[in-house]
Amino acid sequence: MYNPASEATRAGNFHDREHVQVITDIQPCREAVTALRREGLSVGLVPTMGALHEGHLSLIRAAKARCDRVALTIFVNPAQFGAGEDLGAYPRPLEADLTACRSAGVDLVFTPSTEAMYPHGAATSVHVDGLTDVLCGPFRPGHFDGVATVVSKLFHILPADAAFFGEKDYQQLIVIKRMVADLKIPIEIVGCPTVRAADGMAISTRNAYLSADDRKQAARLSHALFAAVEQIARGEHEVASIVATIREQLAGAASLQIEYVDVVDEATLEILTTIDRPARICAAVRIASCRLIDNVGVDVSSGRG
Ligand code: PAF
Repeated sequence: MYNPASEATRAGNFHDREHVQVITDIQPCREAVTALRREGLSVGLVPTMGALHEGHLSLIRAAKARCDRVALTIFVNPAQFGAGEDLGAYPRPLEADLTACRSAGVDLVFTPSTEAMYPHGAATSVHVDGLTDVLCGPFRPGHFDGVATVVSKLFHILPADAAFFGEKDYQQLIVIKRMVADLKIPIEIVGCPTVRAADGMAISTRNAYLSADDRKQAARLSHALFAAVEQIARGEHEVASIVATIREQLAGAASLQIEYVDVVDEATLEILTTIDRPARICAAVRIASCRLIDNVGVDVSSGRG
């Protein structure tokens, strides 16, 4: 089978295929991005773990709208998977991903090996305090350290002007914004709206793990969040009542197990008891072997929610 990554390696870790440069090694990648910027071109970065879907394509479109060139990374980062999570099963359809990148007009794809990203002896990790103690943090110990560590490596390897992340992983977005501010990394972080399927579900690689029946039940998550937004628009600002309504709706599906339902300050992720400022309603559930997260924004002062 044609393996673009191994061909790129044979070609000195640099491969130009119908205008997508596929690069597997760190130094040529840094040089390629630096050269573009030296030419005066702005570079937008879309970090991914591959298995590209409509959510990723929307990030590529956002990057293309703002930047002259788009670089996309594909790396299934072992450091952000916990014991018993789906690292081994995580899909890796590299050829289909490269085809999607070509059609979407991506200019450069970086697909490093695990050994390149975490060479023997690597001993440094990035921990963002506080923001990682809430929401998904307690349920996925070490996950955000893994994300912050790999994203900071990617920002050093691909010194882009801006990086694009989906609001679907809202806590991840806020953690990365904090890390970039604290470590003085010169890159703008752009959050992009969640892309939803026709049934309302936030599009995610892990949705593919669901059976048709589970999918119907899982769609309750987004419906419950949308209903909460309406409840807030009708004047309910007390979080206990909003969370109780969401939990009641989710309880209707016996196969759904709730991990958390919280309303947080949209910038600090502080858990709120009253919605008196821009906020996010965030929830995580388990269904079958799948863990799903979703969130919606509400701003009572602007009439949003
Ligand atoms: O959101 C993801 O796909 C990953 O967490 C990221 C940001 C690419 C880091 O591995």
